[in-house]
Amino acid sequence: MHDIASRDDIKVFVDAFYGGMKSDDLVGHIFLDVMQVDWSHHLPKMYDFWEMLLLDGSHYKGAPMRPHMEVNQKEPLTMAHFDRWFELFSATLDAHFVGPKTEEAKTKALNIAQTWAYKFKLINEQ
Ligand code: HEM
Repeated sequence: MHDIASRDDIKVFVDAFYGGMKSDDLVGHIFLDVMQVDWSHHLPKMYDFWEMLLLDGSHYKGAPMRPHMEVNQKEPLTMAHFDRWFELFSATLDAHFVGPKTEEAKTKALNIAQTWAYKFKLINEQ
């Protein structure tokens, strides 16, 4: 096993992550039923997003919080959703890669997941 070093590596873990996500009992239906995600659109966006965070890529142009606000209006997002999201993300990385970039990916994902989980907690308690 090696560390994450290229866009091709990012494709490997993003594809594996969302592949596993679809059958997850807690979050899978949000992608499949609640939002009916178009994967041909979503996956390249996620390659861009992670390339920006890990390899200084500049393709990602977006507002990452926006679709989650939409999800939250249809089905409130909870700490449990974000915990599961991170658990799957972290396990997917560990199954494919090892090294400092891989650790950086986990730390960045955890920071974002915790920040958003807290934001949605505040929004949903109002
Ligand atoms: C409970 C956990 C989560 C759920 C259920 C969720 C679900 C979704 C859904 C349904 C979309 C829209 C896909 C589409 O229709 O194209 C989306 C987009 C996205 N998600 Fe998540 N997500 C979660 C957590 C996260 C976390 C923790 C991150 C970052 C580390 C993240 C990053 C993104 C990004 C970058 C996009 C694309 C935003 C854009 O349109 O530019 N998500 N997510």
